[in-house]
Amino acid sequence: MSMALPEALVDALCRLPTLQVGDITLRDATEADEQDIAAYRYDKSLYTHYGTKPPRRKPFAPHKLGQKAQDLTWYIQYRGRIVGECFVWRIVDGRMGAVGYIIAKDAQGKGVAGRAVSAMILHCLTELPFTRLYAQVSTANPASARVLEKAGFAREGLVRQGKMMSVYCDHWIYGILREDVVK
Ligand SMILES: CC(C)(COP(=O)(O)OP(=O)(O)OC[C@H]1O[C@@H](n2cnc3c(N)ncnc32)[C@H](O)[C@@H]1OP(=O)(O)O)[C@@H](O)C(=O)NCCC(=O)NCCS
Repeated sequence: MSMALPEALVDALCRLPTLQVGDITLRDATEADEQDIAAYRYDKSLYTHYGTKPPRRKPFAPHKLGQKAQDLTWYIQYRGRIVGECFVWRIVDGRMGAVGYIIAKDAQGKGVAGRAVSAMILHCLTELPFTRLYAQVSTANPASARVLEKAGFAREGLVRQGKMMSVYCDHWIYGILREDVVK
């Protein structure tokens, strides 16, 4: 039986809060962002260690304000365009969720993912009812592991040849708790 989601989470799923960290804005997307989003979303080279193939191309359907989304997806605006996204999905009982992120090739290596994921995590663990967030990261993806470490995640264990989304690979489980952030 699934539990009713806490009100604060339902509000965020219906109306994503905008977050600001330095020169990076995390926000919902509009139709005007479609080209920027397509530029990374369908870039095959970004999926080598992601755990899935790129999605099929389809017209971008922005989230309708007020309608409850399944996941919390923040689009990352940096230097005037959307360069990627970070998200919390696989939400369980409104208290646990998985974290993912992707950054356009030409915006990588500038600390964008590290800052964006840190801001998202802080918001989710302090303003929303999440008590645990986790991520699965291929052992062949050290840049992604580093992003999580910069955001305060602990490496909790190694899964050998386990299923990570839709591929089998050695991967780490990273986790962070509210009590790691709120002392
Ligand atoms: C993983 C990803 C999001 C990182 O984005 P980014 O904006 O470049 O990340 P940042 O610049 O904040 O940080 C990357 C860190 O990894 C480090 N890094 C990069 N390549 C590395 C490597 N081969 N080995 C070890 N560390 C590496 C960088 O030095 C940096 O750490 P630092 O800030 O301590 O110097 C980006 O590469 C990406 O979108 N990859 C494809 C999608 C993906 O794999 N998503 C994660 C799925 S779990």
